[in-house]
Amino acid sequence: MRTPLIAGNWKMNTDSPSAQGLAAGIATRAVESAGAELLVCPPSVYLALVRDAIGNARVGLGAQNMYHEANGAYTGEISGNMLRDVGASYVILGHSERRHILDESDEDVNKKTVAAIAAGLKPIVCVGELLEEREAGRTAEVIRTQFEGSLAGITAEAMASVVLAYEPVWAIGTGKVATPAQAEEVHADLRKQLAERYNDAVAEQVRILYGGSVKPDNAGDLLALPNVDGALIGGASLKADDFIAIAVAASAACKV
Ligand code: PGA
Repeated sequence: MRTPLIAGNWKMNTDSPSAQGLAAGIATRAVESAGAELLVCPPSVYLALVRDAIGNARVGLGAQNMYHEANGAYTGEISGNMLRDVGASYVILGHSERRHILDESDEDVNKKTVAAIAAGLKPIVCVGELLEEREAGRTAEVIRTQFEGSLAGITAEAMASVVLAYEPVWAIGTGKVATPAQAEEVHADLRKQLAERYNDAVAEQVRILYGGSVKPDNAGDLLALPNVDGALIGGASLKADDFIAIAVAASAACKV
């Protein structure tokens, strides 16, 4: 059984008081969604603050990015070991905003994924097609290339700590959510690729999150899909009520 993961990607939002308040608000209500694993990914500068605000509540801590080197002369970068040191257990890698605004390649994402695993972090590796790629009928090919490039050299054993996220770029922050059929098609294909590249056990075990305009009113339908194992949430993760409502929907949709 794959426990649904409900991950909030706060992106470059919040400040100290609002990060603290949001984390505390989520922490207090975490018990409402006992069947789902909850995760918040604040900006790195607020990781320690959010860790303290979460306290002993059942909410995990993740980062939004990291550098692939462990330490050294890399001004402005943050390593996986540092993220672990401040209490993070997950890191989002290859988010489309990093791929398309910061020009990250599959090779960059791959190096970070390898380094994250070495540092004991669980990477959430994101893939997703642009609108023009979907319209040109290239979705499966784009996702396959990102999947293979981002996971190059990652062993079946190491896949135990990897989470995948399918985030169609045209659905991120736009209010345009993928239809359940569109999401399930890509998720099922990703699961097939896991089976082909690794084995059935890895394919059964790896969680594949959907991301892109997930809101309380569409979460139930998406999370009920056989190959959707949680959500990566941007906008709606900035409101404790919405985030918890999505987590409750995930809990209710829990597949055995
Ligand atoms: P959104 O962002 O929920 O605001 O569309 C999702 C994401 O970028 O992870």
